[in-house]
Amino acid sequence: MVGRVSREPADSDKGRVSAQRRQDTRQKFVVGNWKMYTTAEQAGRLAKAIVEGVGIDDRVSVAVCPPFPYLALVGEILKGSRVALGAQNLYPEKEGAFTGEVSPTMLLDVGCKYVILGHSERRHKLGESDAFINQKIGVALAAGLRVILCVGETSDQREAGRTEAVLGRQLIKGLAGLSADALAHLSIAYEPVWAIGGRGHHATPQQAQESHAVIRRRFGRMFGERAAQSLVIQYGGSVKPNNAVALLDRHGVDGALIGGASLNADQFLAIIRAGINEPKTRGEQP
Ligand code: PGA
Repeated sequence: MVGRVSREPADSDKGRVSAQRRQDTRQKFVVGNWKMYTTAEQAGRLAKAIVEGVGIDDRVSVAVCPPFPYLALVGEILKGSRVALGAQNLYPEKEGAFTGEVSPTMLLDVGCKYVILGHSERRHKLGESDAFINQKIGVALAAGLRVILCVGETSDQREAGRTEAVLGRQLIKGLAGLSADALAHLSIAYEPVWAIGGRGHHATPQQAQESHAVIRRRFGRMFGERAAQSLVIQYGGSVKPNNAVALLDRHGVDGALIGGASLNADQFLAIIRAGINEPKTRGEQP
C-alpha cells in the first residue's frame, strides 16, 4: 500500500515542505499518461502493479490513461480499486460516421472516468486548435466525463516572455462558453512543452508555482474566486521520483501528470507517495 512506505524528500528544497503544504486543501491528483506505449501484456502487468501498490490508500487521487485498445482490459483490472481509468483523447460527437474516432459514450462504456484533452502532442503534432479542444471539453463534460485540460507554452514563447499570454489564450479559448458549474469536473495540467519527454528539463518548482498561479488567477477572473480555489492544477513535464516532492510541495501545485515515469510501476508509485501530505482536508476529486 502506498501509505506504508515512508516519504523521502529527494530534491533540494526539503526545508519548505510543511509550511507551504499546510495551506493547500485540494487533494493531490496524480495521473499516468501512457501515451502510445505498452503492449496488452505490459499494460495488464503495469495496471496490476499500480493497483497493488496503491492498495486502499486514498490520500492521493490516482488515475491511469492507457491507449484506446487497452482501456477495457485495464478497466477490468482497476475495478474495485482506488485507481481510476482515463482516456487520452476523444472525438466530440456521440456517434456517427467518423472513421477511426472514439466517442465520449464509448469511453464511459468501458469504464473511463477521465479524459485528457488539449495535450501538447495533439496541439503541436496533430494540429488541434483551441476551438476544437473547446468543443471536446464541452461534449466530454456534458457526457459525464471528468476532463484534464492540458495547457503550456513552448520554449520560444517562454523566451519571448509570452508564457502568461499563451496560458491566458489557451484558457479563454479552450473554456469559452462553459459555466463554472460545468467546470466543477475539470482539472488543468500545466505542461510546458519544453519540459515534456524526460530530456532532463523539468520546470523548476518555482517556475511551476508561478505558472500555476497565473492559471488560477486567470481562471478566477473567468469563473470566480470560489471556482478558482477548488480548481486542481497539476504539473506535467519530466516528473520523476527525484523531483516529485519538490514540485508537489509547492503551494498551488495540486498533482502531476506523468508520461515516461508512469510506465514504470515503482517510479509511478514513488511519485504518488510524494503527493501524500498529512494531515489534510480531503476535497472532492476534480
Ligand atoms: P513526461 O510526459 O512525464 O514524459 O514528460 C508528460 C506528459 O506529456 O503528459
